[in-house]
Amino acid sequence: MRVLVVGSGAREHAILWKLAQSPRNLELFAAPGNAGAAAIATNIPATVTDFDALVAAAREFSIDLTIVGPELPLTLGIVDRFRREGLRIFGPTQAAARIEGSKSFARQIMRDAGAPTPTFAVFDDPDAARAYVHSQGAPIVIKADGLAAGKGVVVAQDIDEALEAVDAAMVGRAFGVSGERIVIEQCLVGQELSVFCFTDGSYVSPLVPACDYKRVFDGDEGPNTGGMGGYSPPPWWNAAMEQQIRETCIEPVIREMALQGSPFTGVLYGGLMLTEGGPFIIEFNARLGDPEAQLILPRMENDLLDVVEATLDGSLPSIDLRWSDRCAAGVVLAPMGYPGSHEAGKRIDGLAEAEQEAAVFHAGTALAKGGGFTTGGSRTMTMVGLGATMAEARARAYAAADKVEFEGKHYRMDIASFAVR
Ligand code: AMP
Ligand code: GLY
Repeated sequence: MRVLVVGSGAREHAILWKLAQSPRNLELFAAPGNAGAAAIATNIPATVTDFDALVAAAREFSIDLTIVGPELPLTLGIVDRFRREGLRIFGPTQAAARIEGSKSFARQIMRDAGAPTPTFAVFDDPDAARAYVHSQGAPIVIKADGLAAGKGVVVAQDIDEALEAVDAAMVGRAFGVSGERIVIEQCLVGQELSVFCFTDGSYVSPLVPACDYKRVFDGDEGPNTGGMGGYSPPPWWNAAMEQQIRETCIEPVIREMALQGSPFTGVLYGGLMLTEGGPFIIEFNARLGDPEAQLILPRMENDLLDVVEATLDGSLPSIDLRWSDRCAAGVVLAPMGYPGSHEAGKRIDGLAEAEQEAAVFHAGTALAKGGGFTTGGSRTMTMVGLGATMAEARARAYAAADKVEFEGKHYRMDIASFAVR
């Protein structure tokens, strides 16, 4: 069977890595893939938004199943297009992916579903938005409605910062059309947690939790990034918490999506805030997270292909989806300067030694002339340590992070540091 994974990050490398362990005989393809994943898959040079090229590649290589990693192709309707062409694909339709692609749509679904959402209001007019900020006070959260590569959210500590954020999005058009509409919402306080489930539009699989680190420097200092590491599961996760989150945050939303004519099929990713008043939803994403995929897929005991196929053919309830008790800690290596400008093309050494300690998932790497790898743009790779305890998992991830050498290597030292306190 031939499986194509759309995307080029460490998340997509992790999906391919997990598929490569399938006892079924899989031939793996990636579009566009990355240099590391090329060891287990054939890379197809098509960007994730070039649907004509992706459809043509799926035909040319007789792909039986396509799995989509990133949000952009999902919100642009890759699933609808593939289905129209008679091609099998895993992920939500464009209508269902609005749960990630439009924050106002997502909030309205949560409200209709009776799921725990902060108070919010939606604005298309900057004057009305400013007036609302004044009426609510700070802290307050300003969000561009559409996708903004993780940069569309401002948690404003005072009114001036909130007004600036309104103007940047709506007047300065910092996020283009994505910020023509904004959502202004109550600021939640608590512990952040991400949960993931597979769903066929009605059944929700067992949830798996992860926590990530978004800021570039230790102690959550510096700018936001695509993610600098994380761990799964958090030590305080338990069955009662899973049940509460499933019953209040996930199942009502899946039911509401179906009720409103946009059933959600695929992986639903809930970003939650555990507040004193219980779990609240920060946002939903329509896919696996990065770096969370790198943390949770090594903990999946099933064949990923079985789970994906069951989600598509309606037999997910009969799959006994199991997440192992093993702990996973992931440390992201990035070039110095990331998420700002940084140099690429630096030789990477020590990978073979690192791979003795941890699973290594490439993102921004390139094949070096004469063998080996160099750094590319953006984050370089995720080192994922596994162990019976989080301390063990963390030690392995850091041992691997230490063994890899490249000029300007940057990583956080405090990933999962609670485990050694
Ligand atoms: P997002 O781009 O939606 O993932 O938001 C980025 C980050 O902003 C989240 O991970 C939270 O830390 C924070 N955030 C978003 N919405 C809220 C909220 N209503 N209250 C507090 N923090 C929030
Ligand atoms: N870990 C954040 C994301 O995947 O959106």
